[in-house]
Amino acid sequence: MTKALFVVSECAPLVKTGGLADVAGALPGALAEHGIAVRTLLPGYRTVLAQLGKTKKVAAYKDLLGGPAKLLACNVAGLDLLILDAPHLYDRDGAIYGDATGKDWSDNAERFAALCQVAAKIADAGLGDWTPDIVHGHDWQAGLTPEYLNNLQCEVPFVFTVHNIAFHGNTDAEKLGRLGLDPARFNADHFEFWGQISALKAGLVGAAKITTVSQTYAEELLTPAFGIGMDGLLRARQADLIGIVNGIDLDVWNPATDPNIKPYKTAAGKAANKKALRKTFGLGPSDGPTCVLVSRLTEQKGIDLLLETLPALLDRGGQIALLGSGDPKLEVALLEAADAHENLSVKIGYDEALSHKMMAGGDVILVPSRFEPCGLTQLYGLRYGTLPLVALTGGLADTVINASPAALAQNVATGVQFFPIEAQALANAFGRLCDLYADKPMWKSMQRNAMKQPVGWETSAADYKAVYDSLTEGQK
Ligand code: ADP
Ligand code: GLC
Repeated sequence: MTKALFVVSECAPLVKTGGLADVAGALPGALAEHGIAVRTLLPGYRTVLAQLGKTKKVAAYKDLLGGPAKLLACNVAGLDLLILDAPHLYDRDGAIYGDATGKDWSDNAERFAALCQVAAKIADAGLGDWTPDIVHGHDWQAGLTPEYLNNLQCEVPFVFTVHNIAFHGNTDAEKLGRLGLDPARFNADHFEFWGQISALKAGLVGAAKITTVSQTYAEELLTPAFGIGMDGLLRARQADLIGIVNGIDLDVWNPATDPNIKPYKTAAGKAANKKALRKTFGLGPSDGPTCVLVSRLTEQKGIDLLLETLPALLDRGGQIALLGSGDPKLEVALLEAADAHENLSVKIGYDEALSHKMMAGGDVILVPSRFEPCGLTQLYGLRYGTLPLVALTGGLADTVINASPAALAQNVATGVQFFPIEAQALANAFGRLCDLYADKPMWKSMQRNAMKQPVGWETSAADYKAVYDSLTEGQK
């Protein structure tokens, strides 16, 4: 049995800001089916500690970046967790990466360096009789782990998964000593990036294998437009870069058993959910498709493109129910647009249960992202017979089959893609969408295709196992 230590900053169902948490929450269960035992090292944020039942103290640290800390082992929702309880770093009001106003915590470098230091200690000295064969870090918050493994001369291999290259975790060089990093490695070959410490770069340099969350994103990362300063390094490491598409938790996202909705097994069961959805969002009856969008509201997600192209959908009788939070400017722009258009209804906030109701009640899930490493909401949409309209990028390119004439002729289409990722192309896609929606037999067969597309973790968990095996073979 291979033992893996996940190092991650969020994990569903305990703490979530985006898809990273879903992956961290679902992948360990899928890996278990392949004989891999995962323990997940997670910061003991105040909200996490409040949800834990019985815990066992398995390690203590007198001074972890400025204060005492301990490691608590526990099991939540089938996850084998190691919670890093370090009150000086994680016990505070506000959100997990920043304060209530959305400003990043000024000590984020320390907060996540501490997590990486503890990961390295666990790999090096073990926890009782448990020592991981693999350390698997996710995103920049886990990026410094190989530096600390190196400081300890620990050779347990590190796998690094890039969920979003846009976040670098940069911090000032003057923190080198405080973070316990080796000054001799503060150079372009290691973790220095334009004069700063880059946690992301440390992870990319120090990983035995780098994975990312779709094949297309793995290719995109090699280009300047998507690599955001790391494309040169990634081209140099291309032989060790592997795209593995995300899956979704088929128990949590199952229209036949979902406790948040009126359950259904075929798309015909969506009608009752659509009625409920329209009521919740104050939308009246309409001839065109009812579209839903559930998202963080950031530049990445292409919300401005949507605002620019609203008439192309609404003038054809389409409507939109949108749930999201994030950039205050986008929130205001959306609320203003909703005031101006009766077929656009916007709820600002974060609401897991409502997101399920939207998947069940919508005809279409919109994902007009400028870039999207994988994306999960289009996968939920497929499973719920809610056809995705997506930008042709990253995981959105890999998981949706565009309704081209050829795909329609072969009856394999599951959604609509647009490219280039610009307003005019999105407007054209809305036109195609409305035409398809008006052709009821065509729409129904696309829904059937979507609902039978495999979107679970099975294949991808096997791919991760192959990555682990390539690193542990010979060790055992
Ligand atoms: P990202 O990780 O870039 O935000 P993903 O599509 O991978 O994008 O994952 C986003 C996850 O967060 C999905 O599970 C989505 O349903 C959820 N989500 C995003 N915004 C909200 C919201 N306002 N309310 C409920 N769930 C949300
Ligand atoms: C990131 C990406 C998203 C991906 C998620 C989980 O937040 O933006 O595309 O699905 O990570 O891997």
